[in-house]
Amino acid sequence: MRKLAAGNWKMNGLTSALAEAKLLATAYPNPACEILLCPPATLLAPMAAATNGSALAVGGQNCHQNASGAHTGDISAAMLKDAGATYVILGHSERRADHAETSALVKAKAHAALTAGLTPVVCIGETEAERDAGSTLQVIGAQLDASIPDGATAATLVVAYEPVWAIGTGRTPTIPQIAEVHAFLRARLTGLIGQTEAAGVRLLYGGSVKPSNAAEIFAVPHVDGALVGGASLKAADFGAIIDALSAS
Ligand code: PGA
Repeated sequence: MRKLAAGNWKMNGLTSALAEAKLLATAYPNPACEILLCPPATLLAPMAAATNGSALAVGGQNCHQNASGAHTGDISAAMLKDAGATYVILGHSERRADHAETSALVKAKAHAALTAGLTPVVCIGETEAERDAGSTLQVIGAQLDASIPDGATAATLVVAYEPVWAIGTGRTPTIPQIAEVHAFLRARLTGLIGQTEAAGVRLLYGGSVKPSNAAEIFAVPHVDGALVGGASLKAADFGAIIDALSAS
């Protein structure tokens, strides 16, 4: 399995930020792990062009579930692919919260992504209230079951565990908490898609990953990479996380 360092720029970055992507592409001509940057849609095509021929992959942060049509303001998976994307983040908690995205919708979007030839990075995670209530595994299990596309394989699916309360807060779960969830997800995936495929699906941890905590998180069994928000905006910070993943 090739581990994956994925950066999610969210709604950050103007044309000048492409310099950070170019720095990364130059610094890692032959990386030990896979490196993915998901910029805002406006930067997708220019980032793909600026890093063309490098080892850096680019991806979208969302797509519409339909291939085309009267959906003002939306972008289809085929359009992301056309702009140079090979991945798309789906079901991020900010989209589930801000745009009322359900797991059923995330699954429909994941099917659209697969049809267009994109690899979906399906995000799941519990809220702080759900963790406090002791229902973390129940919540993420239900999200996983309902969000992943039919026919998913190790080669066509990435899952990101992102506790909602850890995103952008500087707080992270304890190492045993991350270990518990990732082992649970591997077992749950085994039930859904079979042992051979489940063993190869990259399970990312996301939520306040930074250079100072990356190594201990990457040492956790079944953590196959990270989905990184704030710390992916600067090549130096993201590079330190890539280095930690490469060394793990
Ligand atoms: P963060 O965001 O690294 O800024 O906490 C992670 C994410 O939302 O993917």
